Amino acid sequence: MPFSLQTIDGSFKGKDIISIDQFSSEDIEIIFNKIHAMKALVINKEPSTLLQGYVIALIFYEPSSRTFGSFSSAAKRLGAATIEYLNPQQNSSVAKGESLEDTMQTLQSYAEIIVMRHYESGAAIKAAGAASVPLINAGDGGNAHPTSTLLDLYTIYERFQRLTNLTVVISGDIVHSRTIKSLIQGLSLYKENKVYLLSPKELRLEKSDFERFTKNGIELIEIFDEKDIPKDANVWYWNRIQKERFPSIQEAEKYKGKFILTEKLLTEYGNNDLIILDPLPRVGEIELAIDNDPRSLYLKAQIRNSLYVRMALLALVLGKAK
Ligand code: CP
Repeated sequence: MPFSLQTIDGSFKGKDIISIDQFSSEDIEIIFNKIHAMKALVINKEPSTLLQGYVIALIFYEPSSRTFGSFSSAAKRLGAATIEYLNPQQNSSVAKGESLEDTMQTLQSYAEIIVMRHYESGAAIKAAGAASVPLINAGDGGNAHPTSTLLDLYTIYERFQRLTNLTVVISGDIVHSRTIKSLIQGLSLYKENKVYLLSPKELRLEKSDFERFTKNGIELIEIFDEKDIPKDANVWYWNRIQKERFPSIQEAEKYKGKFILTEKLLTEYGNNDLIILDPLPRVGEIELAIDNDPRSLYLKAQIRNSLYVRMALLALVLGKAK
């Protein structure tokens, strides 16, 4: 029987986390409700035994700083142990030709959750179909990055105390960015959100994705010029050109320098209540000077929240969240 995704429907226990499609706004609220307790554990450096006795496997076929670090830290902060494979193409039997399915069936004997990042779109659902323990998608190719969206949504919620009636400008390599696609899906779970998509025409959202996302009622407006940025936006979400998804570096380089978030752009089109997010890594798409602006949250709240959100998610998937 083909493997199909389970919706969360109020219960995370034992479920794979592959796509934002699995969530309702109520499911996301369940995570948000756990964050205060997770934050307190971290701030007070309280040793937690919530996940003591559990092992979390982290296997990352693509590089990562934040997702890998925050999941590893989240597991340990809650008392779980981790086994970690970074670049398994060189550091595991994947180098000898082991299939994704066989690797998953191996890890399920060692760990109660597998957190996987992969370079291929669709690899997460394939891996989940092979593994008997829950699989958390830590990013699969240009497809999806659901846990990034959970922390993005929490960061927006923390600032505005709502996830409805927001105007969001998303800029970058929209066609290749998994964080952008998942965030659009996340914002579409809430009413009256309007998202401006700023990109070079060649990097706009694919038509099928545009239609799929707007089905849920979210208003998506494509713009190809900075002068069309609305001045009343609540959120600016900038993201880099995803050079690893292009056929060559030369192809990716064509877009270098497009739509850089500069002090001038912020002065001209920003407003005082705006927040600035970037899932990172940053490779030139936001000027360093913006880091000192109190509206920039990408190196502050967004990263901190990644830890709390992933702690809550691990606890919920293991059925241990109080
Ligand atoms: N945003 C994000 O996924 O960052 P990393 O690639 O560093 O994990």
